[in-house]
Parts: sequence; C-alpha cells; structure tokens
Amino acid sequence: MPDPFTHLEDFSEDIIAKAQDGLRMTNRELADRAGIELSTVKALKNGSIDEEALIRVASALQLHGERLITSARKSWLPETIECPHLTTFTSEFRSMTVNAYLLTCPDHRGVLFDTGVDAQPIFQHLEENEIELEALVLTHGHLDHVAVMEPILKAWQKIPVFAHPSENIDSAQPLHWGESFEAGPFRLRSLSTPGHTPGGTSFFVEDQSPPIAIVGDALFAGSVGGCAGDYDHALQSIRENILTLPPETILCPGHGPTTTVAEEKQHNPFFPN
Ligand SMILES: [Fe+2]
Repeated sequence: MPDPFTHLEDFSEDIIAKAQDGLRMTNRELADRAGIELSTVKALKNGSIDEEALIRVASALQLHGERLITSARKSWLPETIECPHLTTFTSEFRSMTVNAYLLTCPDHRGVLFDTGVDAQPIFQHLEENEIELEALVLTHGHLDHVAVMEPILKAWQKIPVFAHPSENIDSAQPLHWGESFEAGPFRLRSLSTPGHTPGGTSFFVEDQSPPIAIVGDALFAGSVGGCAGDYDHALQSIRENILTLPPETILCPGHGPTTTVAEEKQHNPFFPN
C-alpha cells in the first residue's frame, strides 16, 4: 500500500525553504537568528527531526513551531471528505502530481477547474457520465494547470474560459477579483489570491453544501504555493480571502489532497495566529 503521506505536497523541509525564500533569509542568517548551527539548518532542510531546532527555526521564520514539528514527523493528513459532485483528476507532471477538478450538478452539467496535464481521463469521465461541459475556469496560467487546454477546447468549442487578465490566457474572459459570475450552472466568486502568480485566483462556489473553494497553488494542505516574490501579500490574501470562508469549506488545491478551512487554521504552519 502506498504511504499516504507521500500525497501531501510539502513537508517541513519545503516549508522552511519557502518561508526563507519569502523572507529572503539565507541559511546563515536563519542559523544566526535561530541561534543554531548552520549544519543544523541544513539538516532540517533535509528532513531531520530536531524538535528544539525546529521550534527555533519556526520562530525565526514566523511559522507555527508545533505544526512545523508535526509536518517534519509526517503525522498529519487532512481528513478525506466525500463530495459526490466534485471529481478530482490527478495527473503526473515531472516529479510531482497536479490536480484538475470537475464540479457537476444533478442535471449532468459541469465546470472544469484547471486542466492538469492529461485530458484523457477527463474526456472519459465526461463521456461515461454524459456530462455537458459548460465552462473552463483557470486558477493561474502555469503550464501544469493549463497543459491540455487545447484538446479540451477543441472538443468543447463553445465553452467560455475564465482567468484573471494578468495570467495572459488567450481567449479567456477577463474576471476581476471579488466579483460573482456565472460559470455554466454555478455561481462563482473570484477571490484574490496572488503571489504564486500575479493573477492567481481562487474560486468560491456559491450555494454548495458543504461549501467548496478551488484554490489553485495559493494554498496546499499544510503549506502554501511558492510565493517568494510577494510573500507577505500572498499570506495576507490567503488569510483574508480563504481562511475567512466557512470552516467546513472544502479547499481544492492544485497539488496534494483536499483540505478544509478548519483543518488549515488548525494545522498550517504559515498561519500561526
Ligand atoms: Fe503553479
């Protein structure tokens, strides 16, 4: 049986590196601020579990210490929540996996969020379940999230594509943050979550129970997407626009497992307060 923890996108070593990049702190500076040896910093970044050092490093990087230890121990996974109208397509891209999500309603109409890198399972699912695809909604324009846009739009020629203008997606209808809009049978609210990319957008699906938000690479279960260029703003956007959603909201990230607002408020080291 595969180790379930391999499904999390990031562990303590990635989290330390992302926080360092965001705060522009070298290993030497981190060692000095944390009051530990440079070799200890390097060991932590190779996944070593030294609780005292992790607490010191977390404090220097404005992370939650106990949660960073939990991440190093690989002892947390978000609970799996069944959501019958939400299908995840996970495809392999280089050394990682990427998620696309299909949301459907009982009358077989659907909206696809991002594409991943493999169109075949998406086509197969649409065909087998007789689902009419009515819109493609993009969280951001990185290759792994839009790689098979072309075959999808060839097969479903008339569907609208929605993306933030800063993502430079040809033929996309420009959307603006904070607005509600119709995508097929769903009403979506676009949430400002830049940082990973300038126009990075999350989508809250209105009138769903439990509530659902597609968050792209803004937030991962127990981590965040790379956002070194705009770190403070990225964390602030997540705090204000994602973590303020109802606690039971299912969060669907671009990489790794789904999680919830409540789980992230309790376990994500990047949001200590
Ligand atoms: Fe990305």
